[in-house]
Amino acid sequence: MELRKGLEDIAIKETEITYIDGVLGRLYYRGYSIYDLAEFSNFEETAYLIWFGKLPNKKELQEIKEALAEEREIPEYITEFIKNVRKDANPMDVLRTAVSMLGIEDRSNEELWKKAVKLTAKIPTIISYFDRVRKGLDIVHPDPSLSHAENFLYMMRGEKPNPIDSRTMDVAMILHMDHEMNASTFACLVVASTLSDLYSAITAGISALKGPLHGGANAEALKQFMEIGSKDKVEEYILKKLESGQRIMGFGHRIYKAYDPRAKILKEYARNLAKEKGKMELFEIAEKVDEIGCKILGKKNIYPNVDFYAGLVFYFLGFDPDLFPTVFASSRIVGWTAHVMEYLKDNKLIRPKAIYKGEIGRKYINIENRE
Ligand code: ACO
Repeated sequence: MELRKGLEDIAIKETEITYIDGVLGRLYYRGYSIYDLAEFSNFEETAYLIWFGKLPNKKELQEIKEALAEEREIPEYITEFIKNVRKDANPMDVLRTAVSMLGIEDRSNEELWKKAVKLTAKIPTIISYFDRVRKGLDIVHPDPSLSHAENFLYMMRGEKPNPIDSRTMDVAMILHMDHEMNASTFACLVVASTLSDLYSAITAGISALKGPLHGGANAEALKQFMEIGSKDKVEEYILKKLESGQRIMGFGHRIYKAYDPRAKILKEYARNLAKEKGKMELFEIAEKVDEIGCKILGKKNIYPNVDFYAGLVFYFLGFDPDLFPTVFASSRIVGWTAHVMEYLKDNKLIRPKAIYKGEIGRKYINIENRE
């Protein structure tokens, strides 16, 4: 039996959701280029596309917007949990627990897409309530008249965001919505394939996304720009890090052997926000890490991934770094649920193999006679 560590290059399902061309650095949702979706679409429309496989007409778009807006509020017992949980909790742990709690209550046999809408609508509410409570601020209830992205920022800040921030949030959420068989989506499918429930599957996805090699990399990328402190220290920092065997966070990808198209798009949004917020210095440090990192690591086909500029964008939008993976989850929920629905159409229990390397036939020794 062949060992494929990390399941590299192993396909576990056929999909019509997302296609990544890792060599040319291209990404398509349901056949549409990520560049077109980032330029012309919005969160609700792209979510509909990912869930249902086609762009919605006007009526369908209105219906999905209304369905999402109606489902934003969370049950009182979850608000109580958020108010009582320790203030220094990891926000991903709070989100994971709150999603799991939602699953305890939802015993309906509703179609999965309806549960997907509910989860997608409620996740920003969970995140913003926790952030405001831990800062000693009153929670801000969702405003159904606002779009999904606008409302998220509104609940976080307590005031309506300007059009630049709203559009940036919308685009950042589109870019994070799906990415084929990444670790967290796979985790969701492992659970779903046992015919467990959707909330359990998503809880597994959140758990996988939390790790620094996956959704946690955006905060790590930002941290390194802050640590560097100024543009002229970039080269020395990178060389030192690589010489000591450490990684440049926000660089490298299992599938992309080219510049991640999502990073290309986010770079321009990060630049614009940096200008708007008067934080050009930080952006320029990142740009320099990008340039020097590409020169050195590009030789091994290692380039910036989505997390490289996502951290900057989320930070400029006002999110604390420990919230970044939760913001990622608030968007990836669409992909997770779409893949679960697609997988369950032709379910097969996911049960890989391990190659046994231990001894066989060892003699059992009574505890009194052991050394
Ligand atoms: N900086 C320096 N070297 C790197 C980096 C990096 N960011 N990424 C990979 N490499 C090198 C490794 O050291 C290794 O070198 P070697 O062959 O000389 O030992 C080689 O590239 C292959 O690395 P692997 O970890 O085996 O490749 P894998 O496909 O498993 O890596 C991963 C993918 C985990 C994303 C890796 O690139 C990494 O750790 N990057 C930093 C963390 C990060 O940005 N994660 C976000 C990923 S995107 C996402 O989840 C949304």
